[in-house]
Amino acid sequence: MSTALSPTAYNYKVVRQFAVMTVVWGVIGMLAGVLIASQLVWPELNFGIPWLSFGRLRPLHTNAVIFAFGGCALFATSYYVVQRTSQARLISDGLAAFTFWGWQAVIIGAVITLPLGYTSSKEYAELEWPIDILITLVWVTYAVVFFGTIAKRKTKHIYVGNWFFGGFILTVALLHVVNSMELPVSAFKSYSVYSGATDAMVQWWYGHNAVGFFLTAGFLGMMYYFVPKQAERPIYSYRLSIVHFWALITVYIWAGPHHLHYTALPDWAQSLGMGMSLILLAPSWGGMINGMMTLSGAWHKLRTDPILRFLVVSLAFYGMSTFEGPMMAIKTVNALSHYTDWTIGHVHAGALGWVAMVSIGSLYHLIPKVYGREQMYSIGLINTHFWLATVGTVLYIASMWVNGITQGLMWRAVNSDGTLTYSFVESLEASHAGYLVRVIGGAFFASGMLFMAYNTWRTVREAKPAEYEAAAKIAAEVAH
Ligand code: HEM
Ligand code: HEM
Repeated sequence: MSTALSPTAYNYKVVRQFAVMTVVWGVIGMLAGVLIASQLVWPELNFGIPWLSFGRLRPLHTNAVIFAFGGCALFATSYYVVQRTSQARLISDGLAAFTFWGWQAVIIGAVITLPLGYTSSKEYAELEWPIDILITLVWVTYAVVFFGTIAKRKTKHIYVGNWFFGGFILTVALLHVVNSMELPVSAFKSYSVYSGATDAMVQWWYGHNAVGFFLTAGFLGMMYYFVPKQAERPIYSYRLSIVHFWALITVYIWAGPHHLHYTALPDWAQSLGMGMSLILLAPSWGGMINGMMTLSGAWHKLRTDPILRFLVVSLAFYGMSTFEGPMMAIKTVNALSHYTDWTIGHVHAGALGWVAMVSIGSLYHLIPKVYGREQMYSIGLINTHFWLATVGTVLYIASMWVNGITQGLMWRAVNSDGTLTYSFVESLEASHAGYLVRVIGGAFFASGMLFMAYNTWRTVREAKPAEYEAAAKIAAEVAH
């Protein structure tokens, strides 16, 4: 049996690499967020330099936090979860390594080209065609590694977390390929093959499902593994998790038109998007409740376990943002919220409260495991991080609610003679205090990430990965 030992041990190397880079990109992406938030308060911080201007750094921020921070977190956790729940090593170390280095190359490509002003001008799909091709290669390899590992699993059934990761991988491949259909005219410029309202619809079919699958389904995969693990309780209802999966992926794909209310898009398509968004509340809350109820009988652990706090609070923000989203999809509500900071507040309720918090909680669980440590270097620092993140998120979203509703109301106010009551600049002046509070909230959140980086560095420095690989081999052999 000893010759069979090596193939059964898990590949934690790639998990470690992605986990560390999640923290690195998290720090960089969020500091970029704080910088652009500061530019909206103090425009001098654009320094009159084109590649430091808000317009170029904003897509750098979104790409860095979504695809670099969020993407690395998804790679790390999906590779960890698929191996452990399938009791099988990733099918190929070489292909897994290619996904790591290929993904980092995509990110470096973004870090260089976006400040230089190269962009396809499609939101969340700004990268130009050569990088798009690399993304496709990495993603197909990711799918081969993930599904190949599931295919050689030693367990009978496929754990539900893997269903969510699998749905996310397949759908993102489809979204990326369809939305990035473009005609290159030079090495760094291409034009979309779609035009007019069709282009807008394809873009927001992509954009909304980037939210639904990249920022939601993948992170639900994370939630379904790390919440029960950290709470040391089985998932509340396995049946509900299956209903949750099928309902969520069936409904999400139709909701995109809510980004295009009152545009040239046919009215029926807008109404369809609104209706599907309202229905989406049900599966979203089904999943949130399933996660929360997993804590039945373990609520007392919240008093002492800051990792569990991160995970539970992330679910609370998931529930909040998936209530807010359907409300904003109602046409009359959207007439007030669209173009205002309310949208930005909603985005970060999901992005900071849900995506970042569930990733941070999961990584605090995972990092010691793959580095052969009992726990992170300092639990106290995790607690500090938790409070900075929670207070930071609340400051961010509350200030954007106030700003958004103020802006919406000021823009629509008319005098009795039909003229506008307020100029645009007056609404901007009214938003100034909110922008300042957002910088403070963002700085709280980003400083929490610095604590995480320090905690991770100390944990990694004292790690014994080689010994741990050996222990994992033995554990895998004993299991069979
Ligand atoms: C320290 C934390 C953060 C700060 C200070 C911050 C700040 C900002 C700012 C100032 C904007 C531009 C808003 C505007 O154009 O008016 C923005 C946009 C955005 N951020 Fe962040 N951000 C942070 C973290 C994150 C994270 C972790 C994510 C995702 C996981 C994220 C996702 C986004 C997205 C998707 C947008 C574009 C929103 C839209 O177009 O509607 N941010 N952020
Ligand atoms: C049931 C779930 C959800 C629904 C129905 C929903 C609905 C909406 C609506 C109506 C908008 C405003 C569109 C506009 O006026 O332009 C929006 C924007 C947005 N939402 Fe959600 N939302 C949901 C959950 C989430 C979650 C969980 C996240 C993040 C993790 C998220 C991220 C975003 C982003 C990034 C945008 C801004 C897109 C842009 O204009 O750049 N949403 N959402």
